[in-house]
Amino acid sequence: MKAVMTDKITAKKAIELEEKYGAHNYHPLPVVLERGEGVLVWDVEGNQYFDFLAAYSAVNQGHCHPKITAALIEQAQKLSLTSRAFYNDSLGEYAKFITSYFGYDKMLPMNTGAEGVETALKLARKWAYEKKGIAENDAKIIVCEGNFHGRTITIVSASGDPDARENFGPFTPGIVTVKYNDVNALAELLKDKTIAGFLIEPVQGEAGVIVPDAGYLKKCYDLCKQNNVLFIADEIQSGLGRTGKMLACDHDGVHPDVLILGKALSGGIYPVSAVLANDEIMLCIKPGQHGSTYGGNPLACKVAIAALTVLKEEQLSENSERLGKLLLKELKAIQAENPELVRTVRGKGLFCAMVINERNGKNAWDVCVELGKNGLLAKPTHGDIIRFAPPLVITEEQLLECVAIIRKVVKMF
Ligand SMILES: Cc1ncc(COP(=O)(O)O)c(C=O)c1O
Repeated sequence: MKAVMTDKITAKKAIELEEKYGAHNYHPLPVVLERGEGVLVWDVEGNQYFDFLAAYSAVNQGHCHPKITAALIEQAQKLSLTSRAFYNDSLGEYAKFITSYFGYDKMLPMNTGAEGVETALKLARKWAYEKKGIAENDAKIIVCEGNFHGRTITIVSASGDPDARENFGPFTPGIVTVKYNDVNALAELLKDKTIAGFLIEPVQGEAGVIVPDAGYLKKCYDLCKQNNVLFIADEIQSGLGRTGKMLACDHDGVHPDVLILGKALSGGIYPVSAVLANDEIMLCIKPGQHGSTYGGNPLACKVAIAALTVLKEEQLSENSERLGKLLLKELKAIQAENPELVRTVRGKGLFCAMVINERNGKNAWDVCVELGKNGLLAKPTHGDIIRFAPPLVITEEQLLECVAIIRKVVKMF
């Protein structure tokens, strides 16, 4: 048999191919990755980097975690997809596992984060009509200023970001926006009796790691309870250990009515999202009213069980809390050393951000390019914010090495 030789692709060629044949809906940093393990990734030239984005917090368990990868391989060789036309032997096990893990009656499985959010919105509307008694087509959802919940038409209808919205209208009606971290503004909007749900990121990720005041989530939750409105937490980015607790809502002792998970639910191995709620809410959706061909497939189920198991076994929330404090302390020190360049630093757990002042025509993008050249990958958001969110398996020694890189690069500017 003739061996098939595949020439290793160069960075230049890989970028050219993506540019020529791929849609231009992203603007990546010019690094071409081919391998990852734990906190580290390597490019096609063999250069090693610390990954300080962790695929937007999908890779909390570290790249190619052996236990999650093994679960994927084992199940892929057995049965990958049945559709929900039939039962499979994994979904029931997974549903039991995840509902007892987070304390809900039921779970609805989807694939991407945006689908999870869409599911939660549909669920809230259905509950509003069938349980709360809102007149048909009158239900509204409150969302927060600065939110990011994904890219579907309904979700961008809830966005205030001009890039996310421009020329994608007409938009989905029934959405009202409230200022983030403003309890009184929410109380005012909740006077409207046609509100079905309040959708919130407990820490806003894409907005630049915006951490609300302690107690804000609890006050919002209590207001929702008083007004018979569903408190819907999008923990797709903030959840699963990222902020130093299993869920960011845990910092305030809040158990959301509807919980949306994605990203690290698979540890970056496979697209898996889920919506969790109790029967009173979840059973509003009946057969034929919502679903997805891939949602709840055996591969996803096994991968998610493994990913959630790793989070607890390796105490990744605890590691995130401990090392997050160290990271924030060091970032604050770097800010104090470079007050002209670094405007603000903030964060919770290993979910931190540094806001950069433009200097001599150089901005956060240039800082990220230089960080990359020094072996640390991070991506700017909104032009001036750099998020630092490494895989939660990072060690103290690795973190200090990364801090040294950040310190050195910031000084260069
Ligand atoms: C809070 C939040 N919700 C939803 C999404 C959308 O997830 P996905 O990209 O998997 O559709 C994201 C993605 O960044 C997110 O950060």
